[in-house]
Amino acid sequence: MHVAVVEADLRNPGAIVGSRPLGELVDFNEPVAVLLVAVLHFVKDAEDPYGIVATLRSAMAPGSFLVISHVTQDGVSGEEYAGGVSVYEKASAPVIPRRHGEVLKFFDGMDLVDPGVVNISQWRGDGPPMRQLIYGGVACQW
Ligand SMILES: C[S@@+](CC[C@H](N)C(=O)[O-])C[C@H]1O[C@@H](n2cnc3c(N)ncnc32)[C@H](O)[C@@H]1O
Repeated sequence: MHVAVVEADLRNPGAIVGSRPLGELVDFNEPVAVLLVAVLHFVKDAEDPYGIVATLRSAMAPGSFLVISHVTQDGVSGEEYAGGVSVYEKASAPVIPRRHGEVLKFFDGMDLVDPGVVNISQWRGDGPPMRQLIYGGVACQW
């Protein structure tokens, strides 16, 4: 088996890590990669996004990698911010942009891979910088 699907809510990370399909596919005694791509910005502060990431990280063996991309309001005008946020008001979850320091905090205590948490177009991109709306970072946990 090479793919498993777990129907679960990220806000209940224990149900994901402890799920049977994942347990059958992934050996958590070995390094793994956890990709939280464009999803953490749907978790409100009150829903404890840092606790969610801590729970996932606690299941990751030394040498594992964490990948996060996250919408930001850095460099965005108040008008654009309000417009962007309002688009998601009628969605199943509101979007919660976070600033650089807040995204960096998800990687606390990990070794960030160069170039760190940056505009995703600059994460080893060779094209011209695009507007910064999303941060991306990759880090290793020892
Ligand atoms: C912008 S998409 C990104 C999907 C994928 N990671 C990618 O990069 O193509 C955001 C996804 O997060 C999912 N999502 C939002 N809140 C979630 C939650 N609390 N638990 C699990 N998934 C969630 C949405 O259903 C959607 O599929």
